[in-house]
Amino acid sequence: MTRRPIFAANWKMNLESSDIDKFMEDIVPVANNTSAEVVIFPPSVYLAQVAKAAGSKIRVGSQNHYWEKPGAFTGEISVNMVKDCGATYALAGHSERRHIFNESAEIVTRKAGVAQKEGLLPMICVGETLEEREAGETLDVLRSDIICSLRDVEANADVVIAYEPVWAIGTGLTCPPDKAQEAIGYIRSQLRELWGDVADEIRILYGGSVKPGNIAELMACQDIDGGLIGGASLKADSFAAIIENGTK
Ligand code: 13P
Repeated sequence: MTRRPIFAANWKMNLESSDIDKFMEDIVPVANNTSAEVVIFPPSVYLAQVAKAAGSKIRVGSQNHYWEKPGAFTGEISVNMVKDCGATYALAGHSERRHIFNESAEIVTRKAGVAQKEGLLPMICVGETLEEREAGETLDVLRSDIICSLRDVEANADVVIAYEPVWAIGTGLTCPPDKAQEAIGYIRSQLRELWGDVADEIRILYGGSVKPGNIAELMACQDIDGGLIGGASLKADSFAAIIENGTK
């Protein structure tokens, strides 16, 4: 089973208009030159700007959305709004949403389910905290994250999962490739239990301090199909190097 790799930039709450123009100018030729799929998750206010500059080889996704139809929800944005801005992916369950904004498993699956229903590809993040890893609970956490996050999501090869150990996000500590493979292989086994053979088609990414220097060894693991990249995706040259080193 060959799964097309994905390299996704999660800019979080970073970059502004003028940085984005330059970034896109530099990254479009890289995306045109790779067999991998390149996705950018900008802050929502820049979705349209990124989508406009993206060209046909870069896909754009929302970092967050609300599940309700348009209405009196001050500060929120709907799935149709992000689609209207050119997004085709929707992130759900990022650890910063779960831990800083207290998003429950119920919220995560509602967001992912609505995104899928309205035609966006959900990219769902799961991962254990340091305390959970040290207590030997990693696989239990992943099992529960997968079951709960997918409750409202239909079995489909176009769902993407990102394994992001919380302790590796923004810390410079990358999960050793054998441990990342163990976790991601386990996630695939859980997907198979839930959804059957489609599990072999689902792309599962690793996220957490991915850099140009460590992506190749991560990509060499059997079940790792790409990266979800935070800090190192903020500069076009390092994101480009990750795409290039990850697809060799
Ligand atoms: P870093 O690459 O900065 O560790 O962030 C990972 C992440 O959270 C991507 O969603």
